Amino acid sequence: MRERFQQLQTAYEAAGQEQVFAFWKKLTPTQRDGLIEDAAAVDLKELGRLWAQYSKGSQAAVGDMNALMPAPFEPVSQNGGDPKRWAQAERVGKEAISQGRVACFTVAGGQGTRLGYDGPKGAFPCTVLRKKSLFEIFAEKIRAARMRYGAAIPWFIMTSRHNHDQTLAFFREHKFFGLGELNVHFFSQGLMPVVDFNGKILLESPDRIALSPDGHGGSLRAMVRSGAIDKMKEMGVDLLSYFQVDNPLIHCVDPAFVGWHLLGNSQFSSKALVKTDPLEKVGAFCMQNGKMSVIEYSDLSDELAQKRGADGKLEFAAGSIAIHIINRELIESLGGAGAQTLPFHFAKKKAEFVGKDGELVFPKEPNAVKFEMFVFDAIGEAKNPIVIETVREEEFSPIKNAQGVDSPQSSLRDQQRQAARWLIAAGCDVPVDKEGVPLHPIEISPLFADSAEALLEKKDMLQHLDFSKPLYLGK
Ligand code: UD1
Repeated sequence: MRERFQQLQTAYEAAGQEQVFAFWKKLTPTQRDGLIEDAAAVDLKELGRLWAQYSKGSQAAVGDMNALMPAPFEPVSQNGGDPKRWAQAERVGKEAISQGRVACFTVAGGQGTRLGYDGPKGAFPCTVLRKKSLFEIFAEKIRAARMRYGAAIPWFIMTSRHNHDQTLAFFREHKFFGLGELNVHFFSQGLMPVVDFNGKILLESPDRIALSPDGHGGSLRAMVRSGAIDKMKEMGVDLLSYFQVDNPLIHCVDPAFVGWHLLGNSQFSSKALVKTDPLEKVGAFCMQNGKMSVIEYSDLSDELAQKRGADGKLEFAAGSIAIHIINRELIESLGGAGAQTLPFHFAKKKAEFVGKDGELVFPKEPNAVKFEMFVFDAIGEAKNPIVIETVREEEFSPIKNAQGVDSPQSSLRDQQRQAARWLIAAGCDVPVDKEGVPLHPIEISPLFADSAEALLEKKDMLQHLDFSKPLYLGK
């Protein structure tokens, strides 16, 4: 251990990061092991390069705002899209799913700080009656798709050091929600050191470096490094249906989306919705010097976000809801050791750290810089990226904040409205309030029906339902 420590200490001194070992003399042998493990995991060269880039101006990764144009997207049929092409896409997608070419992929490595939930966000109870977790809802959707298409549809889940063990324990406790242990694959994402405004690595305790997840874009290299990508190859999977952990309305396996991706010969496809509010907190699909990109809401100027065309419509209307189809080969090339990787973004955040006296400091203002990669930066590197529109009320109602917009309450109302719409479309007389929310709670398990069409097929079973009390429709 002594030799390893000396090597690391020399490297850290050379990089101007010797403060990392400030408490070395006071540490127990076990604590020393922990610090060596952390220190060895940090890529000091990468950090030096990033710090130099950050020091030059933190907007480096965004580029020239004046060169931004709105990106084109394929509207849904009800907004002028061609119903024949949508139907063709659906046919093509169904075939690919049935052939076992599609796997699901959830990024669940975030820390969920805004929601304030103590546990992996996927374990958050999100349904009205059975209080099913986000993970359980996704699992049921995947099981429904499996039955429909007769394919295995494996599920890959990216965790991070902060929630990996808890996530695994949650799946074990719930017997992998009926998917079978061998069909759910977990891997942990990479970590980046957190630095202060002078570029110095912070300690979260005298024996541990402050490390934070490297962003959902870190999923590409984590898939390669963990061997998940090799597993996909062995299974014959070449298309990943990518979604975030926070949205219970997601269509985990969407044949039309897969079909558009294949028909467009695309390597990275995305779903968009037309923004309701110009300042809605979703990224905007843009074109920049001939390449497609997503510009984060925090990076798009208010002026551009509010810009309207002659028809009065928002110009940068297509909002990214972080739903993608990604080709395996693109991940292999961007997540490997090659020269092409995703850029890092810089975020000023509050981070607890150990002060010079060894005591923990809780800053009230941002005091640190975190480094994150964003998966949508792969769009600019992909062949033929395409964007299709989706219907907001059918596919997007995330749980991000403890209250208000994008909260458990707003999502529950949207889930309820969806259930009522589907039942009314199937001929049921569901009493609803003026916003379309049923007067008595209704929960439809995706295993009973995962779309309005699937519910319609069960029309006969719906005739004698009692909507004057809470109603659960399950398998
Ligand atoms: C994100 C998108 C935004 C999009 C919106 C739609 C970013 C930066 N922004 O915003 O463009 O319009 O969702 O809902 O992505 N995650 C990891 N590892 C990490 C960080 C995050 O796995 O290191 C996962 C989270 O667990 C979550 C997802 O990525 O599933 C989104 O992360 P979050 O930071 O909550 O992004 P938003 O600000 O909500």
